Amino acid sequence: MQDSYLFATIAQKVSAYSAAHPDKEIIKMGIGDVTIPLCKAVVEAGVKAVKEMGEKETFRGYGPYEGYDFLTGAIRNYYKKNGVELDISEIFVSDGAKSDVANILDIFGQDNVVLVPDPVYPVYLDTNVMLGREVKFIDSNKSNGFLPLPDGKVKADIIYLCSPNNPTGAVYNKEQLKCWVDYALKNDAVILFDAAYEFYVTDKTLPRSIFEIEGAKKCAIEFCSLSKTAGFTGTRCGYTVIPKALKNLNAMWLRRQSTKFNGVSYVVQRMAEAVFSEKGQEQIKTNVDVYMKNAKHISGVLNSLGIWHTGGVNSPYIWLSCGEMKSWDFFDKLLEQANVVGTPGAGFGKNGEGFFRLTAFNNYENTCKAMQRIEKLFK
Ligand code: MLT
Repeated sequence: MQDSYLFATIAQKVSAYSAAHPDKEIIKMGIGDVTIPLCKAVVEAGVKAVKEMGEKETFRGYGPYEGYDFLTGAIRNYYKKNGVELDISEIFVSDGAKSDVANILDIFGQDNVVLVPDPVYPVYLDTNVMLGREVKFIDSNKSNGFLPLPDGKVKADIIYLCSPNNPTGAVYNKEQLKCWVDYALKNDAVILFDAAYEFYVTDKTLPRSIFEIEGAKKCAIEFCSLSKTAGFTGTRCGYTVIPKALKNLNAMWLRRQSTKFNGVSYVVQRMAEAVFSEKGQEQIKTNVDVYMKNAKHISGVLNSLGIWHTGGVNSPYIWLSCGEMKSWDFFDKLLEQANVVGTPGAGFGKNGEGFFRLTAFNNYENTCKAMQRIEKLFK
């Protein structure tokens, strides 16, 4: 494991550079942190909920461990619109996908073998290393379009998948996900499916949930987040879906949560509920459209420079080739010569070497400015 968490290392490097060059205007396209404020529907719900907490008739103490019914019900209806039927008892409200993809390991035996794609969101690997688990890797690379498929010869009990993918922006289609579901069913394995970026999928033929795939309810857990879809990176709310048909994991997770977690605050859950209202959905779509306009622009400039890349469509991440350069050298070059921050692919695993991630999370003006600087460097 690296000495420091990838995004902490980058933040340190950027602060050191800024301190030494206070006159430089740095544009951040590194960590996937949103820049557009919470939408009106969410803020109004939050204000109303805070007021309720100040009145004796409406004050609330501890909430249900799984989350309030008003929110799990709204999430169930959201899934229903996308063609997935869930029971509210299969939905658990959390403070975000990052914590849950790590905490979920509490309900698996220590001897379970874990499979992670390489490159990968560092949390999957680091949390397993911290717990001393055996981790196997599956190569995700240019030749498989950064969408690896299962290798029947490799046996694993727990498999992490992320689609739309962080860091590559690549998205599995239904046939590809079906291969993973079939593999998991055959090997009695569980897929931990990170769907934190599902809202970015606009291509109707692509799955937004693994539960769109037949058989998935018997072998998959899904993690979702309001961070990137509704600007909750600082507000913190997500949800995890554990089907009742999946061994006894639903009951075990409730046992785990009720022991170690006292839930997300009432105010935040009311704000999250508003995300799923008609107004909320319209407003967050407007914000996501801004990021996707940025992604399109980034991709267009890279195309004009002849730089190979994936992502940027159905995903806020753009994963590009550094050509002959190593990815940390590319990071330094961009920081020092263009004052643009991205994320070096090597930070996501050995197959990330030679690649680089840019995010679309910024305003359009800054994105255009950053891409102009990059164009100047590479033309
Ligand atoms: C990223 O940049 O990969 C994400 O923002 C990290 C996260 O969601 O924790």
